[in-house]
Amino acid sequence: MSSDTRRNRVAWELASRKYVDEHQKLLDEARTGTSLHACERELLRPLLASSPTVVHLQSGHGLDDIALVAEGARSVVGVDFSEVATSAAQRRADELAIPCRYVTGELPGAPLRDECAELVYTGKGALIWLADLRAWARDVARLLRPSGHLFVYEAHPMVPLWTWDEDKPRIRADRGYFERCHVNDTFPAHGAVEWQATLGGIVNAVVAAGLEVRHVEEYAEPFWRPEGTFAAAWSGRLPNSFSLVARKS
Ligand SMILES: C[S@@+](CC[C@H](N)C(=O)[O-])C[C@H]1O[C@@H](n2cnc3c(N)ncnc32)[C@H](O)[C@@H]1O
Repeated sequence: MSSDTRRNRVAWELASRKYVDEHQKLLDEARTGTSLHACERELLRPLLASSPTVVHLQSGHGLDDIALVAEGARSVVGVDFSEVATSAAQRRADELAIPCRYVTGELPGAPLRDECAELVYTGKGALIWLADLRAWARDVARLLRPSGHLFVYEAHPMVPLWTWDEDKPRIRADRGYFERCHVNDTFPAHGAVEWQATLGGIVNAVVAAGLEVRHVEEYAEPFWRPEGTFAAAWSGRLPNSFSLVARKS
């Protein structure tokens, strides 16, 4: 494990305690099974129609897994390097008797067998923690069965540039679209190193892994609005999230 990954893991172990402290609140939220955004549900509907086995990379609190099962997934295996997060997610799924299993492991290099997934789901703040997206995409291709799909719903790579000013959107003076990384100053904080990739870089990583890109879409709405925060950058003029669907032939 590189020193940056080790530092990020410490930051995520600390931040994921929130999921333990807020167990009851998250359990209530999970019961509704509604954590997927409308744009995700629309793109996932045809992919979930065949009741696929799903692997969720960087599964975090795991609320999306319960929603994926509610929308048709046969089962979900979540992988995350935070043991605090995987334990909290497992406890929640077990209490709700949902077929989700969680594995603690560093990505890329998921400790799962080849071709175990019909759908690999990821996003909502996942890719920014990976220094090598080409290695990540190869891991996704390895996990997918032929005809399986990759689904990504993620922060737009422009997002690190936007200020959270309320009056009008501005570009942060300390950030650049083509920078390699920066230190996270929101969540999980604690000095975590966030990696940057351009949208072209992400798409090309998926293509280089041999997956066929079927759909890419950019959205004005961010996937996450921190409670009590409003930024003019989220008012509809700028890209804040994107989705990508790819298929293994
Ligand atoms: C924003 S969070 C979770 C995203 C998840 N989709 C969700 O909505 O809860 C990002 C997750 O990535 C995990 N993570 C970061 N870097 C990782 C790595 N190299 N290997 C495995 N997990 C990692 C963190 O522990 C954290 O749970």
